[in-house]
Amino acid sequence: MRIVIVGATGAVGRELGRVLRQRGLPFDECRLLASPRSAGRQIEWAGRPARIEALDADALSGANLVFFCAGAQISRRFVPVARQAGALVIDNSSAFRGDPRVPLVVPEVNGSAIQHHEGLIANPNCTTIILTIPLWALHRHNPIRRVVVSTYQAVSGAGVAAMAELREQTRAVLDGLPPTPEAFAAPCAFNVFSHDSPVGANGANVEESKVVAETRRILDAPHMALAVTCMRVPVMRAHLESVAVEFAEPIDERDARQWLEQMPSVRVVDDRGRGHFPTALDASGSDEILVGRIRHDPSVPDGRGLLFICSGDQLRKGAALNAVQIAELALGRAAMPARGDNA
Ligand SMILES: NC(=O)c1ccc[n+]([C@@H]2O[C@H](COP(=O)([O-])OP(=O)(O)OC[C@H]3O[C@@H](n4cnc5c(N)ncnc54)[C@H](OP(=O)(O)O)[C@@H]3O)[C@@H](O)[C@H]2O)c1
Repeated sequence: MRIVIVGATGAVGRELGRVLRQRGLPFDECRLLASPRSAGRQIEWAGRPARIEALDADALSGANLVFFCAGAQISRRFVPVARQAGALVIDNSSAFRGDPRVPLVVPEVNGSAIQHHEGLIANPNCTTIILTIPLWALHRHNPIRRVVVSTYQAVSGAGVAAMAELREQTRAVLDGLPPTPEAFAAPCAFNVFSHDSPVGANGANVEESKVVAETRRILDAPHMALAVTCMRVPVMRAHLESVAVEFAEPIDERDARQWLEQMPSVRVVDDRGRGHFPTALDASGSDEILVGRIRHDPSVPDGRGLLFICSGDQLRKGAALNAVQIAELALGRAAMPARGDNA
């Protein structure tokens, strides 16, 4: 098994090293690729010193499994090269997520979609992965009609440069210096601001549009109504999402809690007495999606509304872990969950 990581120096690429080591996916060789700027650099990757090579077509030849984590432009250019070379490709970018021939997979939700892959599987957007897991836990029992989501997204969703910016800016502001934004247009330290992706003609930014399109695709619910507002908060890692769901039928809060507790990858953290609910810090470094503040929504008629919050580490389950789980499924190292098996 020869593995290649494209974008190994990035936030997702480095997390992939940790996840691969922890899950023990066996490989004989792992080549780490990045831009020509990083060629020759020694980094610690998967707990060992490793050398970075520049990405080119030759570096992809002979690979069995390639993880792309270097952005959509790089994926558009080099994913076809890797496929041509016979590799199974897991793409973390948005480049192929809308292509109906490319499965878009959250293993706990629609793992069986992997069966139809043609050498390329897309890893969904991080906010979408964190959202679809609790939604699926509910939707498979009581069809969801409408979802309203507000996100509180960590800066690491924008990569290593954004993480450095939060660290440096926080220090600068505490020292009384003015913030100098580079990775984001707005200052990120001590601030909350609209997600940094471009805003389209309909007023939605790209992140919001991805969540809508990808959630419908993963849940196989093309007509599900979704309204999404994405924000950045000065948190290093783990997104938190506030979710309001309207169901087809009345929903019992206790049933909802039980369905969420039964869902793989979900941990219900909902202790009203102690005020213990999901936080981004508790989700950081965890493989689980924390779900809490589960309560009836009195603004929806007929008892058909539910409110909750969920938080997940978007570098792990929102990116690297989901990508490795996809590989494990595709390589036959994990059982294939049939859609609706757990219903
Ligand atoms: N961050 C997240 O939470 C998250 C979650 C889900 C999906 N994703 C997606 O994962 C991908 C990577 O995101 P990230 O946050 O890890 O970004 P990042 O921290 O900015 O890392 C980008 C990586 O791409 C490499 N790269 C840039 N230009 C390149 C080129 N011309 N040739 C080869 N490699 C190049 C960089 O190498 P150098 O170090 O040499 O520049 C670096 O390794 C993106 O598509 C992103 O949308 C990210």
